[in-house]
Amino acid sequence: MEKSEFKFLTVEYIDNESNLQVALIRLNRPQVLNALNTELMCELAYLLEKIDTNLAVGCTVITGNEKAFAAGADIKEMAELNSVEIYLKDQFACWDRIRKIKKPIIAAVNGYALGGGCELAMLCDMIIASEDAKFGQPEINLGIIPGAGGTQRLTKAIGKAKAMEMILTGRYYTAQELFNAGLITRVVPAQQCLNEAISLAKEISQKPSIAIRLAKESILKSFDTTIEDGIEYERKCFYYLFSTEDKTEGMKAFVEKRKPNWKHK
Ligand code: CAA
Repeated sequence: MEKSEFKFLTVEYIDNESNLQVALIRLNRPQVLNALNTELMCELAYLLEKIDTNLAVGCTVITGNEKAFAAGADIKEMAELNSVEIYLKDQFACWDRIRKIKKPIIAAVNGYALGGGCELAMLCDMIIASEDAKFGQPEINLGIIPGAGGTQRLTKAIGKAKAMEMILTGRYYTAQELFNAGLITRVVPAQQCLNEAISLAKEISQKPSIAIRLAKESILKSFDTTIEDGIEYERKCFYYLFSTEDKTEGMKAFVEKRKPNWKHK
């Protein structure tokens, strides 16, 4: 396990037997419930881009601490800004970089995931949440609306009726309610949350990584395209995988009734 230093993050690389490693990123501004200031988000984008080109890593887990995954964008950073100033600050530029990350990312959510915290969890590919987690988009109580994709991703994930209620009231919701609504992959007791996320990440890291990337890309494509174009896109990805060594190995191993030995090539 290796540690590297960031101001607002920590990262560990977890071994996974002979398979690709799992990167574990912890948001680390505990005194403000991991409020997501611009510097933290830019560190996160930088680190995820680094992980994306690290051939030894298969999957990333992002977590916070027991009290908060993240309680939102940093309100104190935004409080004095007017429209022009926040426009020029372009604080979501680093969020846009995270949207382009190719390897899968799992959010392990304990405690509060509010505003930008909920949006960061939704920017991840899967959410494992503790039974005690509290999700919400309370921006309405600050006189604003979600600004990091909440109105879009939440609506796509849980539908108009529930997204309207959540964003227009600013109420908090339990993990179980949002699991029922389709936002969350799995709800587990608080003490198991991180382990469950790491174990899912390890399972994914055992798979052929080029196929994993293209599966992610193809699934995400479904959010902004027609079914026709999406199927065309999926088919191109499918055909592309027939040039990988892993496709040859995977099918050969099946025929020979043995475990495949992935090369991630
Ligand atoms: N930004 C900046 N600081 C924050 C913060 C945030 N989003 N959330 C909490 N903090 C700070 C508090 O100001 C406090 O700092 P001080 O000790 O210096 O006063 C510290 O974290 C601890 O917070 P509380 O004392 O408030 O803790 P609590 O347990 O009483 O309450 C809470 C917890 C209900 C989560 C409450 O902190 C809260 O309501 N936070 C704000 C939630 C919110 O509105 N999030 C949306 C932000 S806007 C946004 O995210 C826009 C977007 O779409 C990108």
